[in-house]
Amino acid sequence: MYRLFMLCLLLSVGLTVSGTREDLLIADFEGETYGDWRAEGAAFGIGPARGALPGQMPVTGFLGRGLANSYLGGDGSTGTLTSPPFRIQRRFLNFLIGGGRYPGQTCLNLIVEGQIVRTATGPNDRPGGSEALAPAYWDVSELEGKTAILQIVDAATGGWGHINVDHIVQSDRKAPRMTEKSRQILLEQDYLRIPVQTGAPKTLLRLQEDDRTLCEFEVELAPDTPDLHLPLDVRAWRGRRVTLRVEKLREDSTALERIVQSRTPGYPENLYREKLRPQFHFTAPLGWLNDPNGLLYYRGEYHLFFQHNPCGVQWGNMHWGHAVSRDLVRWQVRPIALAPDALGTIFSGSGVVDRDNIAGFQNGREAPLILIYTAAGGTSPASAGKPFTQCLAYSLDRGRSWIKYAGNPVLGHIVAENRDPKVVWHALTRRWIMALYLNGNEFGFYASPDLKRWTPLHTITVPDCAECPDLFEMPVKGDPKQRRWVWTAANGRYLIGSFDGQRFTPETETLQTDYGANFYAVQTYSDLPPSDGRRIQIAWMAGGRYPQMPFNQQMSFPCELTLRPTPEGLRLFRLPVREIRSLYERERVWRDLPLKPGENPLSGLTGELWDIETEIEIGEAAEVGLRVRGEAVSYRAGEKTLACLGRRAPLELIRGRIRLRVLADRASLEVFGNDGRVSLTSCFLPCEEERGLEVYALGGTARIVRLQARSLRPAVPQTAQ
Ligand code: FRU
Repeated sequence: MYRLFMLCLLLSVGLTVSGTREDLLIADFEGETYGDWRAEGAAFGIGPARGALPGQMPVTGFLGRGLANSYLGGDGSTGTLTSPPFRIQRRFLNFLIGGGRYPGQTCLNLIVEGQIVRTATGPNDRPGGSEALAPAYWDVSELEGKTAILQIVDAATGGWGHINVDHIVQSDRKAPRMTEKSRQILLEQDYLRIPVQTGAPKTLLRLQEDDRTLCEFEVELAPDTPDLHLPLDVRAWRGRRVTLRVEKLREDSTALERIVQSRTPGYPENLYREKLRPQFHFTAPLGWLNDPNGLLYYRGEYHLFFQHNPCGVQWGNMHWGHAVSRDLVRWQVRPIALAPDALGTIFSGSGVVDRDNIAGFQNGREAPLILIYTAAGGTSPASAGKPFTQCLAYSLDRGRSWIKYAGNPVLGHIVAENRDPKVVWHALTRRWIMALYLNGNEFGFYASPDLKRWTPLHTITVPDCAECPDLFEMPVKGDPKQRRWVWTAANGRYLIGSFDGQRFTPETETLQTDYGANFYAVQTYSDLPPSDGRRIQIAWMAGGRYPQMPFNQQMSFPCELTLRPTPEGLRLFRLPVREIRSLYERERVWRDLPLKPGENPLSGLTGELWDIETEIEIGEAAEVGLRVRGEAVSYRAGEKTLACLGRRAPLELIRGRIRLRVLADRASLEVFGNDGRVSLTSCFLPCEEERGLEVYALGGTARIVRLQARSLRPAVPQTAQ
């Protein structure tokens, strides 16, 4: 009874049991409107945001449902949000803040008597970063009793030109601060397992030995319960005593203590069997993946390198991951090939086999495998102030280990973020040619006798094209004496022309094969044996969504490119490599079958993984198509378009017929029309219950000339545990 009485007394005078006064909430942005706060300009809208606004990365770290978020209309919008006057009655003003780090431009200001007396910004001023809000506070003890207003300002219009604020509170206790933290550790195992929580504030994690940085990563370190543990390969430093240092962590966080050593990467039990895990498309075991890099073939092995963040499921900390396959279908994941260094993180590039040891790296029997990559200076603290340059790394043991060339960079900075070197051997002039992305829509060509010294040839400007150029020579199908050079950009758009070792001369305007939503950073294999004679391309299926998965993004299925005559001229055709046949499990074939509206000859079939081929005579039908797990792949005769997952490709009937091929995996559909004249490479989030297959006609009867439905076996990458 007495205790209850005392508690009531304390509460009635605004004190808590611990002797500090109760917090006073200034704003929590939970309402439909800003209430008595005043919004000016367009950036804040008429009321609080509920998390991320359209086009914004996920916003985390705010409390409740709402926050003040000036991303409305994107980074370009500006505005202010001003509080009504209030009296400063506590020692600390605590708040949560995120967004741009531009003092005076993206900030929260405390104004007393017309003067800004305190100001704070978000943490971001370069690409990447995180939309997480973090706690911050001001000690305002000397201002107690004064009247103040708060103003949230967004006057910036470029990248990170916005500010996020929430939960502004007057308190006797300061919000936990963000501080630097470190921990000594003797590296006794091969891996460190890092607890990660997607959306947590990114912090710089460094491994240091006597103040020398061994490696550094931006990591979304889990403040409490991790979503997953990501393995950091520390084999290179085993037996050494190192310091783990984080730049910014909540002072009460135990995240550093929760980093553990491990003999293995500690992959989850169900690795490669997760709900949304592609089953015959390449994905990294854990972490983020983007562009295919360094595609080369040597002694029976296809090498696939890839842009990789081993420390998170978002883009960042670019490394080259590595995998090897004997058939382009079954991959074995190898250790990371290239890690960031003082020249930068490792952006995209290509690979070649130096059969005649022209660069002079050979030392033994194996031909050197050489990777040509972009060192992205300035994308990490270790490379701050450095530009983007082009560098080499080589392997003398069939790609088992990689050595960076001591004379890097081999091509200095030219312009902006010049990057993505694709190197090809030009037999006639006996030298290497590099296609390089420069800036805007501009690309360059360079030549070298030895891969180490490069001279510029010329540049081209190609509308709608940027990044990741490729350049290769191909025979015309059916007329192998006729050959052409093909130049492609990241989005797969291409030019056909000639190349004499000095100048690429296009003979066409920009052409397009793929019309899907997720087709980017295409690259073709180097050094396939002439006896094979194929040109094989892999794309990053950019932009797919894999919520709650420990990996992010997938590669397209490898496709063979051919150059074929069409009534419109020569065109590139894309079709899945024949090795897919080794995955066929069961095949059902239909021939010469009328297809009436309302009927579905495939009604008995269910599954997830398919390679379906069909030829349909359109007859009286207005539309024919397949439906895989509820998603339509449709051809409309009137519009002459092939459509899938919201994208359309122009396609003519051939003698009244259409040919379709669909590769279906857990999170993607790749559609090929008329033997690869067009393709649509698309990701989707399948509905779990929907497992059916359908072939249909609308508006009249069509005829199935032939339909082959093959279910596929999974072929997920192997990892060394
Ligand atoms: C294309 C790209 C490249 C760059 C790489 C970085 O997706 O932007 O231009 O090298 O990704 O990850």
